[in-house]
Amino acid sequence: MDIDTIKNNLTGWVKERYHVEPFMDLITKKTVPQHKHSTWYYFGGITLFLFITQIITGILLLFYYKSTANTAFDSVKFIMTKVEFGWLIRSIHGWSSNLMVFTVFVHMFSTFFLKAYRPPRELTWVTGVFLFFLTLGTGFTGYLLPWNELSFFATKVGTQMAGSVPYIGDFLRTILRGGEEVSDATLGRFFGFHIIVLPLCIFAVLGAHLAFVQLQGMSEPISVKNGKEKKSIPFFPNFLLRDILAWMLALGVLASLAVFFPAELGKKVDPFAPTPVGIKPEWYFLWMFQALKLIPSKVFIFDGEVVGILGFGVMGLILLILPFIDIWSRKEKRNLFLTLLGIFMLAFIVVMTVWGLIDN
Ligand code: HEM
Repeated sequence: MDIDTIKNNLTGWVKERYHVEPFMDLITKKTVPQHKHSTWYYFGGITLFLFITQIITGILLLFYYKSTANTAFDSVKFIMTKVEFGWLIRSIHGWSSNLMVFTVFVHMFSTFFLKAYRPPRELTWVTGVFLFFLTLGTGFTGYLLPWNELSFFATKVGTQMAGSVPYIGDFLRTILRGGEEVSDATLGRFFGFHIIVLPLCIFAVLGAHLAFVQLQGMSEPISVKNGKEKKSIPFFPNFLLRDILAWMLALGVLASLAVFFPAELGKKVDPFAPTPVGIKPEWYFLWMFQALKLIPSKVFIFDGEVVGILGFGVMGLILLILPFIDIWSRKEKRNLFLTLLGIFMLAFIVVMTVWGLIDN
């Protein structure tokens, strides 16, 4: 039997049982625009690849990880020293989470500047912003799990920051910590959020995000839309093969980082010790941490930290409702104001992050 007969028999078998034609039509007829900004289209796919890597390596780590204050650190030490390739799996999980946060930032700001959020893609953008928050939340909750000095005190500082949210701050801090202090109860709930709640939310929101992208196809930037020459390539197999190539490149970067800069474990925490000087959160929260450090303790009559937290809240809200405040979008016009706002946000995040890294 030749390959075509096998293929026809198989597709015939599926088609007799399931109504897959509309789905096949969507995949085979879909095209992807090609222009000088097309490279940015690959970042969503790379983020997806890193998310799948997180799920697989996370499940493997779960076979040995023990989520109580007495056992967590030692179980991670066991994974690193006794489990075959345990160090590598943990290292890949750690690096992949960092790369995923990085590619989410790139994907978000590239779709921002290319105005891919404009009608009819408002909901693709809104689900994307939720994915951004969920990704940061998963990173934050996962950081505590090794129960080492760095992760413990970074969580203490982070949950303290949540305590500055006006009105609900105390409630939020207590809910996050499971009590007054970071303790075994905090580890328990961070573990639950990290391995079940947040990944399930990501699955659900990502499902909608990808469905919207499939149904509406990829957007074209305004300059390309108004231009004369338009090129596109079929999604299947041409774009998909390029996507897979991007995944292979991401895998190369990930494997090199995981092998040459393996994840460290640090010291087991003593919860009663004072917070060591120079403790910093993960790099992707550093911009907020640094900005809060720079704000004076009083801004007029308001508490400086509260003003800072409110500022971040406003930034998040602007991102969330961006498609609905872009009043230029109906006329398909460029809008300098929102582009400048995006540049300002990005510059602020980058400058504060670099400042935070070099500041002691
Ligand atoms: C877990 C995180 C995410 C994953 C796995 C993901 C995945 C994807 C994929 C595979 C695509 C199609 C290819 C592409 O345009 O890159 C896409 C498109 C898109 N994503 Fe995401 N995404 C994520 C987060 C976000 C975020 C944070 C935003 C923005 C706030 C966003 C906004 C968009 C938009 C507007 C499009 C349509 C692009 C266009 O039509 O040109 N996504 N996403």
